[in-house]
Amino acid sequence: MSLQAAFSGVLFYFVFFCCDYGYARLAPDYIHPCNDTSSACLIKATQDAIPDFVKGSQELGISVLDPFTIEKLSIPLNGLTFTFYRGKVSGFRNCIVDDVFSDLEKRHFILAFHCNLTIKGTYDAKGRILLFPIDGAGDAKVKLTNLRMTVDIKTKYIKDKKGLNHFSVKSYKYSFDYGDRVYFEISDLFKQSKELSKTVLAFLNDNWKLVAEEFGKPIVDYAVELAIKTIEKFFLVVPYEELINVPIPKF
Ligand SMILES: *[C@@H]1O[C@H](CO)[C@@H](O)[C@H](O)[C@H]1NC(C)=O
Ligand SMILES: *[C@@H]1O[C@H](CO)[C@@H](O)[C@H](O)[C@H]1NC(C)=O
Repeated sequence: MSLQAAFSGVLFYFVFFCCDYGYARLAPDYIHPCNDTSSACLIKATQDAIPDFVKGSQELGISVLDPFTIEKLSIPLNGLTFTFYRGKVSGFRNCIVDDVFSDLEKRHFILAFHCNLTIKGTYDAKGRILLFPIDGAGDAKVKLTNLRMTVDIKTKYIKDKKGLNHFSVKSYKYSFDYGDRVYFEISDLFKQSKELSKTVLAFLNDNWKLVAEEFGKPIVDYAVELAIKTIEKFFLVVPYEELINVPIPKF
């Protein structure tokens, strides 16, 4: 090989490989950046991303959201402590995005969606539900149909050590309703009586709204917090410019 050929080889390498490093796209393929902030584009882009985003990514250091497991969650109720163990929450991959609003300048982002979720695990409970004294332990499954949620995020922009821009979450709040129906399948609410267990379970299902309102919030809080943390991590890895093709506002 002539010196000149070697030199041009090196030059070729330098131009095409060397200095691209650092600019390699970090966003996964399922991110289809919008060229504007129209709701139509943002809804589609968000909907496209959800099924893969919830699978998590070791490369990006983001956790799996479908399913995710709540190792232990104690729900203190009026006179009853209900503890969920290894509650496996699944269904986020099928969430339907209803609306996305983004004002980049005002650093405001709103996401509305609905989903069918299932939480499955084991539990123990001691105390009372409504009128019934409870002393139980066994399997528990809760099915939510068309849980509706709106997450309202105040964003900010930050620069990382390499000088790349990123979205970040400044604060958030959310609202939700339990949707069309919540089903409970809870075994052995009363260790001493299968009959009574069945009767009380039927009662809980007949009064699903009341029951969900009394003990659903800690679970939903947990899920939303986990989802927001995961999104924050994602934002820290993937630069702003790879998420949306709109110039970043001054910051
Ligand atoms: C944004 O514009 C680019 C270049 O014109 C185009 O290839 C891409 O499909 C557009 N993205 C969306 C989501 O419309
Ligand atoms: C949830 O399940 C119900 C009943 O099976 C179905 O009609 C609805 O479309 C589902 N919703 C979602 C968001 O998948």
